[in-house]
Amino acid sequence: MKSLVLTGTKKMEIQDLEKPTPKADEVLVNTKYAGICGTDHALYNGLPGSANAVPPIVLGHENSGIVAGVGSDVKGFKVGDRVTVDPNIYCGKCFYCRTGRPELCDNLSAVGVTRNGGLEEYFTAPSEVVYHLPDEVSLKAGATTEPLSCAVHGVQLLKLTPYQKALVIGDGFMGQLFVQLLGAYGVHQVDLAGIIDEKLQLNKDKFGVTNIYNTTRDKIPSGYDVVIEAVGLPQTQEEAVEATRKGAQVLMFGVGKPDQHFQMNTYEVYQKQLTIQGSFINPRAFEDSIALLASGKVNVEPLISHELDLEQVADVLEDKVAGVSKAVVKIE
Ligand SMILES: NC(=O)c1ccc[n+]([C@@H]2O[C@H](COP(=O)([O-])OP(=O)(O)OC[C@H]3O[C@@H](n4cnc5c(N)ncnc54)[C@H](O)[C@@H]3O)[C@@H](O)[C@H]2O)c1
Ligand SMILES: [Zn+2]
Ligand SMILES: [Zn+2]
Repeated sequence: MKSLVLTGTKKMEIQDLEKPTPKADEVLVNTKYAGICGTDHALYNGLPGSANAVPPIVLGHENSGIVAGVGSDVKGFKVGDRVTVDPNIYCGKCFYCRTGRPELCDNLSAVGVTRNGGLEEYFTAPSEVVYHLPDEVSLKAGATTEPLSCAVHGVQLLKLTPYQKALVIGDGFMGQLFVQLLGAYGVHQVDLAGIIDEKLQLNKDKFGVTNIYNTTRDKIPSGYDVVIEAVGLPQTQEEAVEATRKGAQVLMFGVGKPDQHFQMNTYEVYQKQLTIQGSFINPRAFEDSIALLASGKVNVEPLISHELDLEQVADVLEDKVAGVSKAVVKIE
């Protein structure tokens, strides 16, 4: 079967791999779409994602497909079912798993990171991380369930209520998902700060954003109860804290460089009683994400900018393709 294999740092090649056989508790998925995100950029460049990837490995932690086989112990899935796979597999035994925070698992493994993922025709996953996609969710949209689940986890870590005014900093795919999510979770006003006028305007016209700020020209005002930082630069992290009002919560969602720091006025943290919240991956969020996609409360298809084939993936990871907001790979 056709597979795109990461063979080393910045090295990828199409190979003809043997179709895997599912173990007793595993599902064999015939991939239809695989999404590409910042984690894939990191893994391609030899940096860790949620876990370390050791080449040779097939990436593709965001995916959707059709069940093509099931192991002898699998219940609830049959050949032909439309599915998406939560890539993260938790050990269930470590301190973090046993205290209800599996995302912090000491022994995290992941489809498309530590075991072969969706950038090939067939891959396997334990049935416990496979989810049915209802008919209302296209296979293309279904491939974004994983990133949407990261955003859902982020909002689940916050206390949200309608009176709040929220600001999202970052007009990338994740920032735009947060715009829709905050609305779906009942926040009455969502503003968006970014650097690309077309994306800012799209979110104002189509997704209920009240005020937009292009930070190459506009200064973001303060006064927000909830601020989501979805860029990961020191400058935007500082802007996120500065945009708060008393009692605010700041979600630090963007991923900075491992040695990155930003300046914060700690008197402000005290005096405004701020909550600064980190967010890591997507535990127990797939059911919510699939429901949000099925109900149309979150609409991802207008945010998918590129549909690629396997041969084009390396160019995207080399940043040779202009204007990529969200790329998905169609696997045929
Ligand atoms: N915490 C998690 O679990 C998790 C999961 C997925 C992604 N992330 C992180 O979230 C961040 C956003 O992800 P993405 O896929 O949207 O990335 P992206 O690179 O597609 O988008 C980043 C966006 O930030 C905008 N931007 C750049 N400089 C800016 C500035 N000064 N002010 C405002 N906007 C600016 C860009 O226009 C771009 O659209 C990344 O750092 C990513 O690594 C975190
Ligand atoms: Zn991802
Ligand atoms: Zn664990």
